[in-house]
Amino acid sequence: MLPAPLRLLTIADADAAARLHASGFADAWNPASIAALIASETVLALGAEEAGALIAFALFQSAASDSELLTIATAPAHRGAGHASRLIAAALPVLAAAGNTRLLLDVAEDNAPARHLYARLGFTLDGRRKAYYTAGRSVPVDALLMSRPISG
Ligand SMILES: CC(C)(COP(=O)(O)OP(=O)(O)OC[C@H]1O[C@@H](n2cnc3c(N)ncnc32)[C@H](O)[C@@H]1OP(=O)(O)O)[C@@H](O)C(=O)NCCC(=O)NCCS
Repeated sequence: MLPAPLRLLTIADADAAARLHASGFADAWNPASIAALIASETVLALGAEEAGALIAFALFQSAASDSELLTIATAPAHRGAGHASRLIAAALPVLAAAGNTRLLLDVAEDNAPARHLYARLGFTLDGRRKAYYTAGRSVPVDALLMSRPISG
């Protein structure tokens, strides 16, 4: 099967993106917050679509020469098929062309799929925030701060 096409998101995608976000995170972002990010000139908003439905999305926010992966989520039924990898890979040249030299993110220490994905994509550990994630957890979990260079 051909890979799901990637496209830029518009604010019309905010509800679908919020549903995807809620499927992946205990502290779900509301559609209005997601719409505001999609509309921001500093944000690159990418999604993957299959049969007319948004099945994965990612938001990248740039400031100075750094970009930050604000969030990324794939619908549970579509995980492990490479959608998140393709979204990040597609973003890199766009972010580079906009003058970014580094992509930053943070990830919960107990998020094995995301840590596997980021390691495979060349992100390395810069530091940690102790007990940063609390939502949906009985015990707080550290945030791992990671980055990778973006080459033009
Ligand atoms: C993290 C997430 C975005 C990955 O999306 P995806 O479309 O499944 O990503 P990909 O298919 O490109 O890659 C996932 C990788 O994790 C691996 N993986 C899946 N479950 C795993 C586990 N329990 N432990 C380790 N690796 C795992 C997959 O095998 C795959 O690696 P591979 O391609 O080398 O085999 C998705 O799991 C998700 O939406 N999670 C909830 C939201 C979230 O945690 N976002 C990241 C916050 S930092």
